[in-house]
Amino acid sequence: MKATAKARANIALVKYWGKLNTDLNIPAVGSISITLDKLWTETEVEFGKSISADTFFLNNEARKDQLDRVISCLDILRSLAKVSYAARVVSHNNFPTGAGLASSASGFAALTMAAARSLGLDFPPKKLSIIARQGSGSAARSIFGGFVEMHVGSKGDGSDSFAEPILSSDDWPLDVVVAITERKEKEVSSRIGMAKSELTSPYYGEWVKTSPIDLNSVREAIQAQDFEQLAEVAELNCLKMHAVAIASQPPLVYWNSATVACIHAVRELRRSGIPVFFTIDAGPQIKAVCTPGVSKNVEKVLRDIPGVLDTLVTGLGPGVEEI
Ligand code: DP6
Repeated sequence: MKATAKARANIALVKYWGKLNTDLNIPAVGSISITLDKLWTETEVEFGKSISADTFFLNNEARKDQLDRVISCLDILRSLAKVSYAARVVSHNNFPTGAGLASSASGFAALTMAAARSLGLDFPPKKLSIIARQGSGSAARSIFGGFVEMHVGSKGDGSDSFAEPILSSDDWPLDVVVAITERKEKEVSSRIGMAKSELTSPYYGEWVKTSPIDLNSVREAIQAQDFEQLAEVAELNCLKMHAVAIASQPPLVYWNSATVACIHAVRELRRSGIPVFFTIDAGPQIKAVCTPGVSKNVEKVLRDIPGVLDTLVTGLGPGVEEI
């Protein structure tokens, strides 16, 4: 009873930051993301009578610190399959883990698919999205490729809190230049950071209240393939999320000086007529979203900024797949 799945990371253009329900991991706001082709997690799950306890290896290291979250996800699938076998989970990320590059998104999407398939469960993507959400909110979006929207839903049990595709990457191919400014894992995870913001940030209420405006505007921009509108609202929403985080107690400043230099460089490029905008998740890396024709140019500018350690360029990718 073994299966392997590959899921890609995604980056949010309208961010998820805050929860309605921590037990079921229901987000307080909807979100819209793009799935990235070249940043992925591959996960093999094996269930069996001969396996005595659940284990989780990430990039060849036993990760006891992550085991509880992995087990929670396995438990959901075990209860749906009505089995009680333990599982061996072996995962590989091809990019830095826990540094604001959405490793929990690709990780829990791959885990959900691999665990479901190894138990012989053939669930539709919507159901996989609901299960992946309970592992990590952003993972619900990595079930799908291209442009994806995650819904808060209105049912208390989370059964209508899932993601669905808005537009395929073939319809509107974009590139993302990722500028890595730090390789180590961040000190405050998204999960802990958003919980702090909910409790202490004076801007949290306004963040939740104004999120639907950004969602409508970004959804419209994607449907109309209006790059300028997408750029304006995605940058605004990203800065709003970081303003909420920065005003938390203790303050959550996810940026370093290279992050700030990249923000200015991207804004300067756009002022000069290059179709590019930035977004930043709970970490110091910058993701510059642009049209494919300018990605080489954008990469060259970001690579030369002091503190940028590495860059990579990726197009948009597909949803989770069994391999
Ligand atoms: C800043 O999905 O990692 O990347 O549901 O607690 O696992 P949990 O949080 P997670 O949060 C992602 C936050 C973000 C914004 C986003 O991806 O929408």
